[in-house]
Amino acid sequence: MPLQWFLKYRPKSLNEVENEDEAKKELTEWIESWLKGNPSYKAVLLYGPPGVGKTTLAEALARDYKLELFEMNASDSRNLNDIRSMAERASVTGTLFGIKGKLILLDEVDGLNARADAGAIDAIIELINKTKYPIILTANDPWDPSLRPLRNAAKMIELKRLTKYPLKRILKKICEAEKIVCEDEALDFIIDQSEGDARYAINMLQGVAEGYGRVTIDMAKNLVRKKDRELDPFEALRSVFWAKYYWQAKSAVTDTQIDYELLLRWLDENIPLQYTDMEDVWRAYDALSRASIFLNRAKLVGWDLLSYTFDLMGPGVAFASFEKKKPTYKAKWVKYQFPQYIQQLAKTKETRDALDSLLRKIGVIIHASKDKTLNDFLPLFVIYYKKFHDKLDKELELTEKEKDVIKMLSSLYEGITEQPKEEERKETTERKRSTYYRRKKS
Ligand SMILES: Nc1ncnc2c1ncn2[C@@H]1O[C@H](COP(=O)(O)OP(=O)(O)OP(=O)(O)O)[C@@H](O)[C@H]1O
Ligand SMILES: [Mg+2]
Repeated sequence: MPLQWFLKYRPKSLNEVENEDEAKKELTEWIESWLKGNPSYKAVLLYGPPGVGKTTLAEALARDYKLELFEMNASDSRNLNDIRSMAERASVTGTLFGIKGKLILLDEVDGLNARADAGAIDAIIELINKTKYPIILTANDPWDPSLRPLRNAAKMIELKRLTKYPLKRILKKICEAEKIVCEDEALDFIIDQSEGDARYAINMLQGVAEGYGRVTIDMAKNLVRKKDRELDPFEALRSVFWAKYYWQAKSAVTDTQIDYELLLRWLDENIPLQYTDMEDVWRAYDALSRASIFLNRAKLVGWDLLSYTFDLMGPGVAFASFEKKKPTYKAKWVKYQFPQYIQQLAKTKETRDALDSLLRKIGVIIHASKDKTLNDFLPLFVIYYKKFHDKLDKELELTEKEKDVIKMLSSLYEGITEQPKEEERKETTERKRSTYYRRKKS
């Protein structure tokens, strides 16, 4: 993936940030109160819809005031310990603030799942209480009851949706810098679809411009989708697996029209294609199987449990990959597969029986029902089998028929994890896109 334009053109300084004058003023007054040694608040909570400049403002503020930025995505509960140790470190300042000042950014605190991440809010409050450095928290939705302690501890600063003209200036600047011919009307169209979200608008612009080298109204109309339009399964998978942020992974799951059960199958099918590290694969399946447990419970006891299912299916699967934590991480391009192996295998009674007995044998070992084994473990097993077939043959006393079934399964995976050539890649993406839009229209 080439560098994302929204990052390439992220404002470096407060005065490059469009709009948001009120927020800028409040932020600078606040940071200056720190510099004078008499902070008005220890923390601010910057909140507002996606893509309006929360993260951008925090970073620009640090740069303008020459503060070293400690940035952490708070919605990832694995960072809990880091937050705790930061609380320890931030409570002692070696140097005077202002000489080598620091700014702490805890991004996306509303991604914390209050129940699942018990302790995280407390840890943040402790950090705020102890800190000798200014702290910025960000959130899309700060009104969740579990965030009340944060609302009380921080100064609330709201960012509004970007309106048409600032958005247009942002897009125009990029068109000029990239030397791309962009029709005015096309920019207006993109802006209309973006619901005041600059990241979304820039991504749409890049999507069109990169494929075609220019941006016309016709192309925009064909290629740009309304922000809240539902994702097709391919897009949903890509958005989950490529997500760098909690909200991306979560909205991928909630913004799709395919039903949750089916999406589980899609994820199930494609986890081992997307993730190469065995431990990542394992963690992803772990999240997915818990998602399926919550889904079943939701059906029995109440749909509010669905939210956990979404958390696990989206962010749970997305951040199962520790590879992603590396700054150099680049999502692997994968041709996603329909969840079809079941149908394929179920064609003859003989293979059905062999699959059944295979599932039972595996199920005994992993203490799972046949269904669970089929849904949650089989793809992983197939990969393990490739490496450890001698051992597994013996251990499971596999029959020839069962071995055949495994072979069929693995041949269904074969060849689809290779990176396609650039041209092929374009071609398939385009094809997918056009079939999708055709389907959508009809
Ligand atoms: N006010 C703005 N002026 C100029 N560019 C902006 C502005 N707001 C957003 N952008 C552009 O959009 C991108 C996304 O913005 P940013 O990451 O700051 O959004 P955010 O409010 O943190 O969203 P989220 O809630 O999704 O994290 C930026 O990298 C920048 O390119
Ligand atoms: Mg952000």
